[in-house]
Amino acid sequence: MEKNKLKYMLTTFGCQMNLADAQRIHGILARLGYEETRKEEEASLILFNTCCVRQHAEQRLIGRVQGLVNEKKKRPDLLIGIAGCMAQNRQGEMLELLPLTDLVFGPNDIEQLPLLLQRARNEKTLGNFTGKGSFDGESADGIILERPFSAMVNIVRGCTNFCSYCIVPYVRGPEISRPLEELTDFVKDLASRGVTEITVLGQNVNVYGKDIGLSEGFAQLLEEIEKIDGIRWVRFMTSHPRDFSENAIKRISALSKVCEQYHLPVQSGSNKILKAMKRGYSRERYLELINQVRTHVRNVCLSTDIICGFPGETEEDFEQTLDLIRRIRYESAFMYYYSPREGTKAASLPDQIPEEIRKERLSRLISLQNNISLEESQKLLHQEFEVLVDTVSARKDSNVAGKTRSGRVIDFVGPASLIGSYVKVRVDKARIWTLSGTMTGRSDP
Ligand code: SAH
Ligand code: SF4
Ligand code: F3S
Repeated sequence: MEKNKLKYMLTTFGCQMNLADAQRIHGILARLGYEETRKEEEASLILFNTCCVRQHAEQRLIGRVQGLVNEKKKRPDLLIGIAGCMAQNRQGEMLELLPLTDLVFGPNDIEQLPLLLQRARNEKTLGNFTGKGSFDGESADGIILERPFSAMVNIVRGCTNFCSYCIVPYVRGPEISRPLEELTDFVKDLASRGVTEITVLGQNVNVYGKDIGLSEGFAQLLEEIEKIDGIRWVRFMTSHPRDFSENAIKRISALSKVCEQYHLPVQSGSNKILKAMKRGYSRERYLELINQVRTHVRNVCLSTDIICGFPGETEEDFEQTLDLIRRIRYESAFMYYYSPREGTKAASLPDQIPEEIRKERLSRLISLQNNISLEESQKLLHQEFEVLVDTVSARKDSNVAGKTRSGRVIDFVGPASLIGSYVKVRVDKARIWTLSGTMTGRSDP
């Protein structure tokens, strides 16, 4: 019987929202009797959880699906499914774009997966592409975690910001918050299953609770989570600089479980561009926010997202971004060149910047930030950090790797049996993105 178990392979692109959705998809498929495999040739169902935030993300997906052509020829009963944001954005068109596909459904259709799969065995099948998300049916026993000690917890679904470059609000629907008690129960259940680290998620976690009558709901939620036994570390993302108040920073900084990792996407250092992006803050207000965070959160690790080559961005505007980076000195940054997304405001703005210029600016941006990241990493040499070990190291089999509270990746010599535990590690080597060190002890509660 065991031998004939149906196997599936799920590949997730994009952001943490998709990783959180993957936890649910794994759960649903396990309940249907499927078993996960990492080998395409073993899978009778191959699912892609897609992203459409930039063209590059879409191209990677297209390449991967087209690469399955021989597999599908050999095994016509192989089911290929496209889930996630690109599916939601293109819907039925995906079947024309990728004729190998049997099933297309959006992020808000995940609970219907059992039904959709059944239909897909007989005919090409589309989800409902429900526009609005919900938290119905999402329980801690219903999800399967990639690492049993670490979970993503969605607190706000969707986004209503409509930053002018961004497709997310069109594919994820409006912002909705999960009720506070539901969330604390969910986290308690996770803790009782052995989860010690959670990452609370939303496109803008700072508005948590607004739509359900809470004011400063985000700080309140983190205060409630702080009280839950078993949870040791709490991370959060993404923060929207416009909606992060000093009062919230103060309240959150008083919580011992909340990690000192603040991801504050700035997008641009030019007021003109920030306005055109509809971000709702100025360069000056953003700098003030950084000041507040640095004042209240000791040893904070700051990171950001930046877009260069937005329509109308002049060399002077771009210089303002470089200047902001030099002033703030982020530990790390996700940097992109602008990618026009059909249907968004920015895609139809005049003054689109030629691709060579967008790329050239990106490479200057990256080289500046890499220098800063390396210098900031080097400041950590010889210091000791608490680390949650989460994997065998990608660099060396005899090493394990984990993350510090501030989210830095560090690897060191150690057995795989340490995975899931908290240890102390001293930094011996600093690189741009990662550190290496030596374990000096355990850090059990
Ligand atoms: N909600 C988060 C970001 C979600 S998308 C926030 O508001 O910060 C992740 C990142 O992708 C964004 O921060 C932005 O830097 C980038 N991004 C979004 N749309 C883009 C586009 N059209 N072109 C290039 N980068 C984009
Ligand atoms: Fe996109 Fe802006 Fe929403 Fe972030 S806040 S997901 S950038 S629209
Ligand atoms: Fe991509 Fe969707 Fe996230 S478009 S960035 S996976 S919300």
